[in-house]
Amino acid sequence: TEGVAMIIAVDGPTASGKGTIARGLAARYGVPHLDTGLLYRAVGFACAARGLDPDDPAQAVQACDFADSLLADPELRSEASGGLASRVSIHPGVRRALFDRQRAFAGQPGGAVLDGRDIGTVIAPEADVKLFVIASVDARAARRHREMLGQGRQAALADIAADLAARDARDTGRKDAPLVAAADAVVLDTSALGPDEAIAAAVAIVEAKRAG
Ligand code: DC
Repeated sequence: TEGVAMIIAVDGPTASGKGTIARGLAARYGVPHLDTGLLYRAVGFACAARGLDPDDPAQAVQACDFADSLLADPELRSEASGGLASRVSIHPGVRRALFDRQRAFAGQPGGAVLDGRDIGTVIAPEADVKLFVIASVDARAARRHREMLGQGRQAALADIAADLAARDARDTGRKDAPLVAAADAVVLDTSALGPDEAIAAAVAIVEAKRAG
């Protein structure tokens, strides 16, 4: 690893490979990484745990004062938590409540890697490098399916693809901070890439930026 005081924004839809790329870049450059989807997942999970309605803006905002320890709960990684996260994330009040901690993370003196949906557009528009990671629905569904089988969970490929498409539509269609590539983002399509290849492609993009 080598120290670089850069802010790297990694945005993209579910199962595009953005998490793998963000972790890979953080390890390569020795900077801390924040998976911002976990924050929204924690809010959705806290709604379910406290009997709050994730679709009600005021109730969802109440769930934003979740305990930090919740961020380590493996249950946050579940499809159910992802769906809840997508629902609470449409409320502007929820996005505002989670803004400061993301800004603070991005502003660390040594740099940071953040992955999410709106890092390059809203959270850190000043980021030094912005990646917008995409992949076909088929490639993303196949990845998610493999991942679930590896965890010993059953799921039909068609159901996973339908769920991904529904989530894309909600994330892209919302009014506040929709999923969209920043004008200065570099688009990286990982459909045909394995994890190591995707990370290598991202490193090449970062290096090109550094070379100016
Ligand atoms: O990246 P993920 O699948 O863990 O994200 C779960 C949901 O959280 C996603 O469907 C939309 C929301 N989200 C968001 O609105 N903004 C972010 N920066 C990250 C996630």
